[in-house]
Parts: sequence; structure tokens; C-alpha cells
Amino acid sequence: MSIQEKMERLSRLRDKVKAGGGPKRIEKQHEAGKRTARERIDMLFDPGTFTELVTFAGDEDIDNLKNPGEGVVAGYGKIDGRTVFVYAQDFTVSGGSLGRIHAAKICRVLDAAMKVGAPVIGLNDSGGARIQEGVDALNGYGEIFYRNTRASGVIPQISVIMGPCAGGAVYSPALTDFIIMVKNTSQMFITGPQVIKAVTGEEVSMEVLGGAMTHNQTSGVAHFASEDESDCMALIRRLIGFLPQNNMETAPQLPAREPEGDREDLLGIIPDSPHLSYNVKKIISLVVDGSDFLEVQPYYAMNAVVGFARINGRAVGIIANQPDYLAGCLDINASDKIARFVRFCDCFNLPLVTFMDVPGFLPGTGQEYGGIIRHGAKMLYAYSEATVPKVTIILRKAYGGAYLAMCSSSLRADNVFAWPTAEIAVMGPEGAVNIIYRNEIAQAENQDQARTRLTAEYRDRFANPYIACARGYVDDVIDPRDTRKKIIDTLSMLAAKKESLPAKKHGNIPL
Ligand code: HXC
Repeated sequence: MSIQEKMERLSRLRDKVKAGGGPKRIEKQHEAGKRTARERIDMLFDPGTFTELVTFAGDEDIDNLKNPGEGVVAGYGKIDGRTVFVYAQDFTVSGGSLGRIHAAKICRVLDAAMKVGAPVIGLNDSGGARIQEGVDALNGYGEIFYRNTRASGVIPQISVIMGPCAGGAVYSPALTDFIIMVKNTSQMFITGPQVIKAVTGEEVSMEVLGGAMTHNQTSGVAHFASEDESDCMALIRRLIGFLPQNNMETAPQLPAREPEGDREDLLGIIPDSPHLSYNVKKIISLVVDGSDFLEVQPYYAMNAVVGFARINGRAVGIIANQPDYLAGCLDINASDKIARFVRFCDCFNLPLVTFMDVPGFLPGTGQEYGGIIRHGAKMLYAYSEATVPKVTIILRKAYGGAYLAMCSSSLRADNVFAWPTAEIAVMGPEGAVNIIYRNEIAQAENQDQARTRLTAEYRDRFANPYIACARGYVDDVIDPRDTRKKIIDTLSMLAAKKESLPAKKHGNIPL
């Protein structure tokens, strides 16, 4: 064969692999509102930067490929000039089902990303284990799970669900840092509707069982819900922008931007009455660069707000209580949400900025039986273990164990500042008065009046930031308008912070 003929063969083979499952299946994919694996990769990366790996993996009869690409496209490219690895399952080839070679391609990407220290993005769209390949397919998943776990905390791993993701296949995404789902076209579940009906009799649609909003709102499995695939790609690029390449680096520094809006407005957000709520995101927006806040899990456990922002050009993780939802109480789901986010930030050198306004842990048998003790402990553990710079701003309520859990000085916040509106105490005035003045109230002629008077006295005496300041638990009481400047100065002072944990194999976080 001449070089010319060899080149022609190469070109023919490459075209065959690029054509995936062929025009009919591609059309079906488009009709379902989905793009192909290669179209998705093109949308994800800076134009022309994608390099494919193990392109011809698969059948040895290379001229008659039955499963071109083996149902997955693997490689790397650039996002805003930074290297990111990708694998994209190709539903047009055997339904993107995972066999031995499909798994080997994904493993290749994970290994290469670990070697150079770059993030990995998995675009999932698959019918699950390739049934014909039996135990080889199962082993393939196992190899991926193992690598996901080894890579955890070393490189950021983002899983995107863009079609079906069923059975044990869901566990690779579940082992990674973030799961993004596309509304209406993606589903995740361990057992599908048919099996559920056969086993329990319950009837449920794919979307209600495991659609994007189910996992964003109800289960908390997913972290983001995109409107469609292009919205999804824009989101991934935005998310990557806040992250370092690996655990040895810091996120890219950008030029500082002033927040939008007037910092004077910070004086008018917290209502005079402690019984009224407000939206803590208004405060975040008036503090962070360009008012640009990428909220993580915005639909789940909305009593807690977590997400990424920049302060003076440096990426940080923001954690806040949300008084507008369940009065900002901590509950099981909020504890899980905060603990996991704190650990992600600590893995990847993102300082933690915590805004506290917490009336306590949510009371009730539902919470106690659900294990709020175990779940709340995750927050204490995550904050205590975190060695990144930690700055806490107490906005208003800081009561009891929840005060400690929201990165108090005792959990080694590096610096704690309080607004003059802060109330730091063992419990809220109403609860405290009913306990410590029980006899006095019982003996009063007008019990309601006595309770109101004693509550006001208690609030004046104890529910303020100055006792905590006097004891050294709070560094300063600050003018709310100076919050951004205080955080900038503090993070600048802490920039070189180095702290290490006692030598150990690993800790034993309550799970
Ligand atoms: C082999 C598969 C496949 C699979 C789909 N295909 N899933 N081939 N193994 N798991 C093939 C189909 O035969 C079909 O081939 C093509 O992919 C497209 O599938 P359709 O059924 O035509 O597509 P659609 O109607 O959109 O339905 C998609 C689907 C359905 C809902 C995903 O295909 C499905 O239910 N598949 C099986 C799902 C499943 O039970 N997987 C195993 C899960 S258990 P042709 O040639 O006709 O185009 C598991 C264990 C993992 O994954 C354990 C890890 C520890």
C-alpha cells in the first residue's frame, strides 16, 4: 500500500469513528433534544483545542467497526486556556453502553488527568453496563469507581448527566465533586420505573423518579440543573473558572471588581425585628466581586446557601444561613450540604467565608430520628479539619451549637467579625427566659407582660456581640458597610497561612 493509500485509509477510519452510530441514530439523538458526544465537546472547549485519545480503541477488525469509538469519546482540551480532560459517552453507539474498552478509555482519561494534575469532566449519556459484555462491563465500572476515589481531593471531577444514567453507573458521578443535570433530558436512578413497578407496585415516571429537578430539589444528589445543553456547557466553563487545576494550586486570580449596588444598602437589609427574615444573598451580592455568585445546590436545603465567588479577584467558597427559608435553621440536609462544600473548598485551597445568622438546629422528631446528631457533626468536623483561611461574619443570630457549627472561633475560624446586629448566646431570648425565669414568670400577676419584659432585658444584656468580643471569641464589631474591606484585608493577611493536621492515615468523619 502506498503512503497515499495509507493516508486515505486513515482518513476513512477516522471519518468512521467520528460518525459514531451513523446519521439515523444521530437524528434520533437530535430529535430527543440532545447533541452528540462530539458536538458537546465542541461546545465545551475553546474552539479547536480538543485532542482525542485512544481514537481507534475497539474492534481489531478496524475496517469493519461494529461500535465506532466504543460508545465514548475521550481526550482533553482547553477551557479559558487551561487544560481539562473529558470523556463524553456517545449514545448513538450501542446506547453509550459501557463495555471493557469503553471503560478503559475513561480510565485512560482519569489516569492522564491525575498525571498532569488537571480537572476531569465526564459527560454521561448511557444505557449502563453493556449487557453483552457481562462481568467485563461490571469490572469496567469498578475500575472507574476506584480511580474516581483515588482522584478525589487531587483533581476536581465534574459529572454531567445528559441522558440516562442508570443502575450502578450512577456511582461514578456520585463519587465526583459536582453533578450537573440537564432539565428534561437527563435521569439518574439505581432501579428504573419498570423494576420498581415489578418489585413494589409503585408507578412513577422516569422524570419524577430521577429527573434533574428531583435530584436538585429532593434528593440532593445533584448540584446544578441546566435549562438545556448549551446552558450546561456555559455553566461548566463558569464553574471551572472558580477552581484550581489540582490540590497543589490555587484558582486563577482575576482583576478585582467592585460589587454592583451601593454598600450603604448593607445597613438596610437586616430588619429591626428579630422575628423578620431577609434574603442573605442580598448581602453576598453587595460584598463579592461584580456581585457574581455561583450558587451550588440552589434548590436543595435552601436554609443554607453555599457557592463560589471572588473577593478582590481571589476565588473563595461562601457559606451562609438563609433566614428567608426555615428561618435559617440548620437541619440534616443543610448540614450535609455545608459539610460537603466546606470539604471541597478545603481540598482545593479555596478560603472559606461564612456569613452566620442561625437560630439553632431545627427541632423535632423528624430531625432527631433522621440523625441530626450524626449529620450536624459533619459540619463541626469539616470546619474543624479545614486548614484553608477561614473568615466568619456574624450578621445576626448565633445561637447554641449552631453558632459553633457555623465556623466559630472555637472551630478555628482565623478571624471572626460581628455586625452590631449580632446576638451571640446559648439560645434565643424567648427560649432562655422561659427556662431561667420560669418561677418569676409563673408568680407574676401578668405572665405575658413579665415574659415580654424579661425577654427584652435578656436581649439587651446577652443578645449582643460584646460579651463574645470581651472573651476574645470575636475580633471586632464592624460597620456592615466595611464587610468587603474587612474580608479583603483578612484574606490578604492570611494568604500565606500554612497549617497541617496531626499525622494520621485519615480521620473518621461521621458519615
Ligand atoms: C447494550 C444497549 C444498552 C445496554 C441500550 N442499548 N442500553 N446495548 N447494553 N445496557 C442499545 C439498544 O439495544 C439500542 O441498540 C441502542 O442502545 C439505543 O437504545 P434504545 O433502547 O433504542 O434507546 P431508548 O429508547 O432511548 O432507551 C434508552 C434506555 C434503554 C432507556 C437507556 O436502552 C434501556 O432501558 N437500556 C437498558 C438499561 C439497563 O437496564 N442497563 C443496565 C443497567 S444496570 P440499537 O442497535 O437498536 O440501536 C447497570 C449495572 C452497572 O448498568 C453496575 C455498575 C456497578
